[in-house]
Amino acid sequence: CGIVGYVGSQDVLDVVLEGLRRLEYRGYDSAGVALRTDAGELAVAKKAGKLANLEKVLGEHPLPPATLGIGHTRWATHGGPTDRNAHPHLSADGKVAVIHNGIIENFASLRAECEAQGIEFASETDTEVTAHLLAAAYAEAPEGPGRLAEAMRAVCRRLEGAFTLVAAHADESDTLVGARRNSPLVVGVGDGEYFLGSDVAAFIAHTRDALELGQDQVVEIDRRRGVTVTDFAGAPAEPKAFRVDWDAAAAEKGGYPWFMLKEIAEQPQAIADTLLGRLGRYGELVLDEVRLSDDDLRVVDKVFVVACGTAYHAGLIAKYAIEHWTRLPVEVEVASEFRYRDPVLDRSTLVVVISQSGETMDTLMALRHAKEQSARVLAICNANGSTIPRESDAVLYTHAGPEVAVASTKGFLTQLVACYLVGLFLAQVRGIKYEDEISSIVADLRTLPEKVATVLEQMEPVRELGRSLADADRMLFLGRHVSFPVALEGALKLKELAYIHAEGFAAGELKHGPIAVIEEGTPVIVVVPPRARELLHGKVVSNIQEVRARGARTIVIAEEGDEDVVAYADHVIRVPRTPTLLAPVVTTVPLQVLACEIADTRGLDVDQPRNLAKSVTVE
Ligand code: G6P
Repeated sequence: CGIVGYVGSQDVLDVVLEGLRRLEYRGYDSAGVALRTDAGELAVAKKAGKLANLEKVLGEHPLPPATLGIGHTRWATHGGPTDRNAHPHLSADGKVAVIHNGIIENFASLRAECEAQGIEFASETDTEVTAHLLAAAYAEAPEGPGRLAEAMRAVCRRLEGAFTLVAAHADESDTLVGARRNSPLVVGVGDGEYFLGSDVAAFIAHTRDALELGQDQVVEIDRRRGVTVTDFAGAPAEPKAFRVDWDAAAAEKGGYPWFMLKEIAEQPQAIADTLLGRLGRYGELVLDEVRLSDDDLRVVDKVFVVACGTAYHAGLIAKYAIEHWTRLPVEVEVASEFRYRDPVLDRSTLVVVISQSGETMDTLMALRHAKEQSARVLAICNANGSTIPRESDAVLYTHAGPEVAVASTKGFLTQLVACYLVGLFLAQVRGIKYEDEISSIVADLRTLPEKVATVLEQMEPVRELGRSLADADRMLFLGRHVSFPVALEGALKLKELAYIHAEGFAAGELKHGPIAVIEEGTPVIVVVPPRARELLHGKVVSNIQEVRARGARTIVIAEEGDEDVVAYADHVIRVPRTPTLLAPVVTTVPLQVLACEIADTRGLDVDQPRNLAKSVTVE
């Protein structure tokens, strides 16, 4: 969910709606606002569906002007995506308004307690209980400054689970409070105005000065008294100040119809930014920011890569590269499975967690489990100062800039590049088996931005192909070696964006089952390895023939000059020659463009596909 709060002198509705627009990628099942009016009342509007629905309601029934308020855009967990379940939620007396991100695990018992006191609930959410508890705690808290924060602390001490909460009280004309446990919340500091947000996008149009909150902290923003932070017991805490280096323009579409198209186009620059300053003059890796000592890295005897969704696919590719370069065994696992199966971890295990947002709860929990088992954790992340890098032993930022479209594109390619850097760095520190290969790979890394740019220049036929595939009811993606995870990613993109059932398979597995689903005209996309890998290449060419013989419409992604595929391909998409391990950086791009075009042709919302959210901060 996306959260924004504001106290200042501007019209709060403008500020909050602007923030919600930028946060909408975090969830768009419903949206709502609560403003504290000069008459000392809370004015609330909320509506199921995207923010546009709420804006329509506000157009028809304007709220009175105000300078303090909160807003929320929801990704539903408890209670369906209805008007009633939309945030903010109010206390029974209408005096407290609360917005929430996360899950309150003990809400059922707390709700029963409130109901026993005669409170009637207006929604099915876990959130509403906090509004009632806050109203009661406020009544008990000593009058005067800090009263709402005191009430918030009292409530937080009773909550289990993960939450960001932001609350306003009708009797408080100058103050908003927020709290966080395992869920994101940052503070924006302007000139006589203060902001709370799920991330900095909430206030980037107004200020670049931000404060980072720690776990289990309560923050008060007050028109006169500024920002006060404490822990849940009330002990003062010092928030860490930082400056946001993303500018507002980077978080806007810049002439593209979709954020996703803009982010696809930004990939050459994003990769260059990931590499910037990390490749030394002599082909050595310079990863000073990886705060693990050489000794720490030398004792590593096993690597785990843990992530979710697209980031998990980056991990699958990383396995091939890291194992090859370092001869260390690498296991890759989806984060939501990792900690529940008691993985074998100890001090000599390196756990690499990959997360664009740095907030994915499944990944965060996996990271904590790894640390509890005394493994070393290295995070590959895009969002600066987010929770995952903060809790990791070391971090390598991808520097891809803000990614707004829910389906990850530049996030993914830069994660791949960061994984290569980590693999090469490990090899460098630990002694290298393939010394020559490594220096040539470093040179190849430098050419990746240009290669991706070349692919992007040749996308018009791919878009045309996409339009012709818009009516497909299913699609298969095949690959071998590193192209296998690329096939998985291609299928995921198509599912996410176009709602077309798609599966990725290891091409060799085809004959063991999946081939049965191929019918006349079934589109099958095959990602072909470079010709230099003769054996591998030959096998995949045979696989193309096998599916073609069963009537498939074959769409083949192959490197320039690979003529072997032409006879069996209904469509060939060309990519520049790239060494096998790095090839996913170029072969993924046409799959992104294809999924985007198919979704667009089907009239779907490319940036905000149904049921999804960009950063899922619940387990
Ligand atoms: C969500 C998004 C996916 C994303 C995954 C991991 O499920 O819908 O697109 O790949 O989270 O996100 P992260 O921010 O951890 O990379």
